[in-house]
Order: sequence, then C-alpha cells, then structure tokens
Amino acid sequence: MKILLLNGPNLALLGTREPQIYGTDTLDSIVAAVKARGAELGAEVAHLQSDAEGALVAALGRAARTCDGVVINPAAYTHCSVALHDALLACGLPAVEVHLSNVYRREGYRHESLTAGACIGQVTGFGPYGYIMALEALVREIRRREGR
Ligand code: DQA
Repeated sequence: MKILLLNGPNLALLGTREPQIYGTDTLDSIVAAVKARGAELGAEVAHLQSDAEGALVAALGRAARTCDGVVINPAAYTHCSVALHDALLACGLPAVEVHLSNVYRREGYRHESLTAGACIGQVTGFGPYGYIMALEALVREIRRREGR
C-alpha cells in the first residue's frame, strides 16, 4: 500500500514557527514518525511539502496513478483553495485532512475548510500525533474498501 503525505505552505518552518500554537517538533521528525508507523502498518509513505498550491495539485494528480490514499495538511490553503478541493476529488483517492492546531478554537476564517468536504475525515488539534491518527484511519479505510 502506498500513501502520499502532503504538507502545505509554511509547514517546512515547523519547530520554530509559532511554537505556542504548533509546538516544537520539526516537519522532518513528524514525517519520520509517520513513515515509521506506516512501515508497521504495511504502508509505504511518500512525502511532499510545498508552499505552492500548483505543486500540491500536481502531486495529487500523480498520486491518482501511483498511490492508494492521501494524508494532507493543506495549511492555509485549507481555507481558500477550490483548486485543492477539486484535485482531492479528481484524484479519486481516499484522503484524511490533518491540522496540528484545533482550527475551530482559532480565528473565524480558519473555521471553514474548503478541502475537508473532499476528504473522508478530518483530524484537528492533536499536534503531531494527529498525523499518526490520520494515517491509521486512512489505512483502516483503504483495507475496509478492499474487503480485507
Ligand atoms: C494548520 C492550520 C491552518 O489554519 C494554518 O494556516 C496552518 C497550519 C495546522 O496544522 O494547524 O498553516 O493547517
């Protein structure tokens, strides 16, 4: 099983970016933990972080042919990107949206997600562990759909 892990804008700065909101774990350490959990679950995890909306859209297009599911933190694009919403639907893969912070406890403009409606579910507010939760839920859902 192949899973694409996608991280959107400004997430490369995790570790030093607003640590009171996002914590002090780096993106590299989060990705390493997701890959390790994936290996335990029999899932190979490929990762891409990009600040560019188009690069994230293109990655979803490629994943349609090469992957079985997607874990995505669209970051700020969550709240404004019709293109990512459409790409999530177009790739035809089950996806789980994840946010480190609880977006519903923050500014009003973060309360709307344009992308969550194109995903099977959303995990928000559990910090880096949310990525593990998202991966586990996604792998379980892929297996359920495959009937195993
Ligand atoms: C975020 C929440 C978004 O509102 C914000 O723009 C981010 C990070 C999170 O992981 O909590 O960049 O997706």
